[in-house]
Amino acid sequence: MSKMNNSHSNHKVSLVGEVTIPGDKSISHRAIMFGSLATGVTKVTNFLLGEDCLSTIDCFRKLGVHIDVQKDEVLVYGNGIEGLKESESVLDVGNSGTTARLLMGIISGLPFHSVIIGDESIGKRPMKRVTKPLKMMGSQIDGRDDATYTPISIRGGQLKGISYESPVSSAQVKSSILLAGLFADGTTIVSEPEKSRDHTERMLKAFGCELDVSGNTVSITGGQQLKATNVTVPGDISSAAFFLVAGSIIPNSEILLKNVGVNPTRIGILTVLDRMGADITLENEKVVNGEPIADLRVKSAKLKGTIIGGEEIPTCIDELPILALAASQAEGETIIKDAEELRVKETDRIQTVVTELTKLGVSIEATKDGMIIQGSNKALNGANVASHGDHRMGMMLSVASLLADGETFIENTECIAVSFPNFKEQLQELLK
Ligand code: S3P
Repeated sequence: MSKMNNSHSNHKVSLVGEVTIPGDKSISHRAIMFGSLATGVTKVTNFLLGEDCLSTIDCFRKLGVHIDVQKDEVLVYGNGIEGLKESESVLDVGNSGTTARLLMGIISGLPFHSVIIGDESIGKRPMKRVTKPLKMMGSQIDGRDDATYTPISIRGGQLKGISYESPVSSAQVKSSILLAGLFADGTTIVSEPEKSRDHTERMLKAFGCELDVSGNTVSITGGQQLKATNVTVPGDISSAAFFLVAGSIIPNSEILLKNVGVNPTRIGILTVLDRMGADITLENEKVVNGEPIADLRVKSAKLKGTIIGGEEIPTCIDELPILALAASQAEGETIIKDAEELRVKETDRIQTVVTELTKLGVSIEATKDGMIIQGSNKALNGANVASHGDHRMGMMLSVASLLADGETFIENTECIAVSFPNFKEQLQELLK
């Protein structure tokens, strides 16, 4: 239980200073995975030492890859695409959906048996979205409820390329199939309704792979080798999001966030906050390892309500809980729609956001595919709230507590270590 006592009640705190945003979670996972499949040594700098990415390292070590972790620099000694070995024990992905789904794609192409397990939350997350296309490619997969939930067992083998239209816009689904496609005969083609984050496509190219991207369709031809390369991981915009919103809605704030990834498939948080009237500027824009980065400077501003939906959703899917909090402080109504994917994240984030923000006095209602929030300039009221073991809920509620009169108790903030181990310290340092 973490107690946040806002003794300066009624918004008297402000946030001023600089924050070091930890490395991007999606990119950190992929650097370990692709480095493991490559020939040669991959050096990963600014690697995210969060629990999810440590689960990925653990799984690839069990598959026989030598991985050296020295502070936030990681060396991956790849043995080539066929170099992974059968694990003697189960592969435990912890809380990480990205590890689970991308790993399933990789081991589907390898001629041995693996069992994937995870924590209680992973056990509720739908895996059929990847096991179905992977079975079509020739992988032998079994698991609870017709390979919908972990534990999942996979006996990989010779795969054939498929053309697959994914019903969901998901980078985890797209990446899983593309990675299996690396091992398959012929060409594998994946398309999705809206474009999801494209870190896999960019990083596979950096590892020397050829793939074809046309709109929302990506194709890859099997049998290609990956060559080790050095990866510098940009700051995670999904982690920066908590400070972008906090800096916007807490009066008299100014925060500088350096070296944050601003890949166009990830910057929905910036376009939505801009539409709401936020004051965020991009400085020092450059491209590192094929990924655009920038320094972000946020100053407090008066926000107004907006509508968030359609193809914008995949570009800010992980930021919707903190955007809901931003909306609670804006003038007028905000509607979040087309976001049913929120229901199958680390928690049902429509339900958990609505339940917990309601306790703090926000006027918010759940819909089938999103939420409707009535903004207000009244302070929130302190209350006992819970993260439900979801790291992004824990961080959103920590920011919310700064806006609340009196004390707020947040149950289980330890889960924040999944993606942002020193979040609390960094937030504390900014408090003025
Ligand atoms: C991720 C993709 C997204 C995102 C998750 C990380 C990735 O999930 O929510 O936190 O690294 O590919 P979906 O691809 O399932 O939407």
